Amino acid sequence: MSMIMDGRSLRLLHAFLMFLQHLNPALGFISGVGDANDRCIERERQALLEFRKGLVDDYDMLSSWGSQDQKKNCCKWKGVHCSKHPGHVLELDLRGDSEKTQPLSGKLSSSLLELHHLSSLDLSYNDFNMSQIPEFLGSFNNLKHLYLLEAEFGGTIPYELGNLSHLESIDISANNFNNVANLQWLSHFEAYDWADIVNRLPYLTSLSLSSCDLPPIAPSTHTHFNYSKSLTIVALSDNHQNSSIFQWLLNFNTSLVEIDLSSNQLRGSIPDALGKMNSLESLNFDENQLEHSIPKSFGNICTLSSLSLSNNRLSGQLVEFINILSGCAKNSLEMLDLSLNQITGSLPNFSTFSSLKIIYDGTNNLTGTVPKGIGNLHQLEVFCVSNNSMHGVVTEVHLSNLSNLWSLDLSLNSLALQLNKEWVSPFQLRIIYLSSCKLGPRFPSWLQTQWNISILDISDTGISDKIPKWFMELPPTLQYLDVSSNQLEGQFSHILFPSKMTLLSIAANLFLGTISSVCKITGGVLNFLDLSGNLLSGEIPDCFMHWRKLVILDLSGNNFSGKIPTSLGSLSRLQILLKFVDLGNNGFSGQVPGWIGEGLPVLNILILSSNKLSGSIPFELCWLKYLRILDLSLNDISGNIPQCFNNFTAMAQKGDFYSGIIGSNYTDSYAYDYEGVEEYVDDATIVMKGRELEYRKYLGLLKIINLAHNNLTGKLPGEISSLLELVVLNISKNNLIGEIPQMIGQLKQLQSLDMSRNQFSNEIPSSMSRVIFSKRLGLVLHNLSGKIPSGTQLQSFDAADFTGNWALCGPPLPNKCPGEETPNQSDQPTDHDGNEDNEKDGDEFEKWFFAAAGFGFFIGFWGICGPLLFKSSWRGAFFLFLDNTKDWLYATKLAMCMKRLRWKFKNQG
Ligand SMILES: *[C@@H]1O[C@H](CO)[C@@H](O)[C@H](O)[C@H]1NC(C)=O
Ligand SMILES: *[C@@H]1O[C@H](CO)[C@@H](O)[C@H](O)[C@H]1NC(C)=O
Ligand SMILES: *[C@@H]1O[C@H](CO)[C@@H](O)[C@H](O)[C@H]1NC(C)=O
Ligand SMILES: *[C@@H]1O[C@H](CO)[C@@H](O)[C@H](O)[C@H]1NC(C)=O
Ligand SMILES: *[C@@H]1O[C@H](CO)[C@@H](O)[C@H](O)[C@H]1NC(C)=O
Ligand SMILES: *[C@@H]1O[C@H](CO)[C@@H](O)[C@H](O)[C@H]1NC(C)=O
Ligand SMILES: *[C@@H]1O[C@H](CO)[C@@H](O)[C@H](O)[C@H]1NC(C)=O
Ligand SMILES: *[C@@H]1O[C@H](CO)[C@@H](O)[C@H](O)[C@H]1NC(C)=O
Repeated sequence: MSMIMDGRSLRLLHAFLMFLQHLNPALGFISGVGDANDRCIERERQALLEFRKGLVDDYDMLSSWGSQDQKKNCCKWKGVHCSKHPGHVLELDLRGDSEKTQPLSGKLSSSLLELHHLSSLDLSYNDFNMSQIPEFLGSFNNLKHLYLLEAEFGGTIPYELGNLSHLESIDISANNFNNVANLQWLSHFEAYDWADIVNRLPYLTSLSLSSCDLPPIAPSTHTHFNYSKSLTIVALSDNHQNSSIFQWLLNFNTSLVEIDLSSNQLRGSIPDALGKMNSLESLNFDENQLEHSIPKSFGNICTLSSLSLSNNRLSGQLVEFINILSGCAKNSLEMLDLSLNQITGSLPNFSTFSSLKIIYDGTNNLTGTVPKGIGNLHQLEVFCVSNNSMHGVVTEVHLSNLSNLWSLDLSLNSLALQLNKEWVSPFQLRIIYLSSCKLGPRFPSWLQTQWNISILDISDTGISDKIPKWFMELPPTLQYLDVSSNQLEGQFSHILFPSKMTLLSIAANLFLGTISSVCKITGGVLNFLDLSGNLLSGEIPDCFMHWRKLVILDLSGNNFSGKIPTSLGSLSRLQILLKFVDLGNNGFSGQVPGWIGEGLPVLNILILSSNKLSGSIPFELCWLKYLRILDLSLNDISGNIPQCFNNFTAMAQKGDFYSGIIGSNYTDSYAYDYEGVEEYVDDATIVMKGRELEYRKYLGLLKIINLAHNNLTGKLPGEISSLLELVVLNISKNNLIGEIPQMIGQLKQLQSLDMSRNQFSNEIPSSMSRVIFSKRLGLVLHNLSGKIPSGTQLQSFDAADFTGNWALCGPPLPNKCPGEETPNQSDQPTDHDGNEDNEKDGDEFEKWFFAAAGFGFFIGFWGICGPLLFKSSWRGAFFLFLDNTKDWLYATKLAMCMKRLRWKFKNQG
């Protein structure tokens, strides 16, 4: 079962995997040491020591803080910065690293108040275990900067912070504030919302309250304040703001430079009045529900350089947007992101936008061709129009002057690239997404001149060619290579892979030979390996020890032989992520390896179908409690079905998607807060193309056991009926005997049940009548007898569903049960051909299984990434990671296509 997915899904997955691999426990405090020359004031030193006492410093981050003689000068302590003569403590910088690997925790002692001169306090990225931000912080008369982002504070934002009358910047983003409590608490005062705190801070220049669960601002109760004249940055991303916030923002209309209201609940039109903000440079309303076009006034914001409106409901012709921005804004605009809207029309000529560097117009309803005028945007660095309905040809005329271009994404359109064989590209691209464009049939020669590529996706581009020499010397910078679904031909062993590859997919091509060269990928960061659907052969090399981060392994549909390598199981002592293993459709022989149960404990999907595996099903497989899909069909497996399938708890538990995730080292502690999962799932489905099935509907529900076509003997163990969420059960074509477990009717989620071609003896258990099958049953039971239990569902099926059960009687079959015959009914049994496969049933199963292949991806992806994203701190770190790495800018943008994932940290200090 090959797992080809479109480029979009893949790159999203990849971005997250990269993020995971970035997590590095070795980082320490970022801050420097104190100023060396100034003796600190004894009172302040005592206050700091008292403060330290309250803290839990498990990682000895404050080892330089001490009372011994050589440590007496507190101005030299880590994170302490003093003034000169006398040495008053001015700054306390105890910011942890953004992964919080060595956090401070414990209690914040009010002894700090002794630091009368303190002007800056930074406790970000520590772990204060959901405690409240202490109210005493509101009493620092001289505090100008307060940074408490991602410090695991909880409870409410103390109103006292509004007493920090000298505050210039505050960032308390991404804690765990409780919005309801917030309101209750505030109501003790004569103030009703968070904005009142802010309104009382006349010197504020920077306000960052992202992910603070802030309730919507109350409309226009804020007239009696003296608003800060200096507020330049407002970052309120990922809160609950509605359009009432616009009015409040206008109080700062002369000073605001940067506004981030992404991931809120802004609806309707963007108000024209915002165009009055005459110093605005950056506006981010990503991920809201804004409609219509942009206001005409925006064209007159002569300072506007970045306009980001991705993932809204904007509509209209793209040319209208461009016309509006053609005022003085056209000279300043560098970044325009309109992706993920419903914008129509063709790509207009941006030629007069002389500063434009970045265009994101992906996932809209754009039609038409790529205008030649694009070729005049000399500054252009990033051009993305993926996933639209554009057509036509892109030629040298479009590209020859774009010497600054480093990211090109034309994927998922009907575009063709026709570049002369001799054409010399003016650019060195780092990111290339051309999935489903037409590039072939020859392998493009210009690609072979790109030496800095880190991401290359030319999947499904109609290339039908021998692999060029370039493959024998891939750029060392290459980390992501997807050439799937072409007709590339050549010896796999000739490809020289860079050691730091993270993703490799050559699925559905014509690669030949053995794959030992893949072992050159020794960088330890490979997380996705898909070689499915080629002509590869030989044994699988024993180099899994290099691939500790591997999550998805798909080698299906080749001619591999030999044993399944034990190095796959040797990962057991390492940190294992492998969640998806598909070795189906090969020639593997030997026993079903029992060590899989021990070695790959978080496996979600195990597909070993269509091989030559023999022996019995090892009981160790039952240790795979997160398993959702087990497919051992079409082998020569014999013996009894182990009586421990009830251990597959993921198949027994309610359909939440994430029950399968808990248990991986990364996600253990993040397995909560799944509210809104459905939303994510919805959006995930957007990124799939060309699938007819409604993944969304079944996503998270799909749980499959397929043991068909083996030589299993003995009874079907009753334990199977405890897998309450099982959707597909296929045990057909074995030699099972005895009774069908009575309790099988408990499996209320079953959509396809195939028990045909066994030697079962009993009647259909009466419990089956309670099963509510929402789809066609696909029930093929063999050698059953007696009356089909009456119950609306079973009766509503086709007689063909009961094929091969000669002794069955009663509706929906035409033959009546003994004693129920009516005189005018024929006594003859109908001719059900029990020896032929039920084709319809087969189709049904195909469908399910096809779905399963898609799900493999989702489970792999969400299994790892989902929980992290619910954990705000990790979300922040993820985007920070991406933001800091230019190569991944695109990945950020892509990741941002997903609802609520778009949350981003600004002003990290
Ligand atoms: C965090 O708080 C919880 C509940 O308030 C408490 O049980 C737990 O011990 C605290 N953990 C630490 C490390 O202080
Ligand atoms: C904050 O200021 C208010 C008056 O605006 C005062 O009543 C209150 O005591 C102050 N709180 C603190 C903690 O200083
Ligand atoms: C606003 O400023 C004026 C003059 O400085 C002052 O009299 C008034 O009390 C202030 N209003 C508020 C609500 O702080
Ligand atoms: C925003 O929410 C507040 C509080 O729920 C409500 O009073 C106000 O009417 C809302 N404004 C808009 C524009 O929906
Ligand atoms: C945009 O395309 C989608 C999918 O093709 C379609 O459902 C939608 O109606 C289109 N919207 C507009 C405004 O054309
Ligand atoms: C069920 O799985 C656990 C490990 O998850 C294992 O210790 C136990 O032996 C298994 N039970 C059976 C009956 O195999
Ligand atoms: C998780 O990883 C850490 C370090 O990477 C390791 O010390 C720990 O034993 C692992 N835990 C499990 C359950 O694998
Ligand atoms: C199936 O197993 C039985 C008993 O274990 C054996 O006699 C028979 O030959 C096997 N059939 C096949 C096709 O392997």
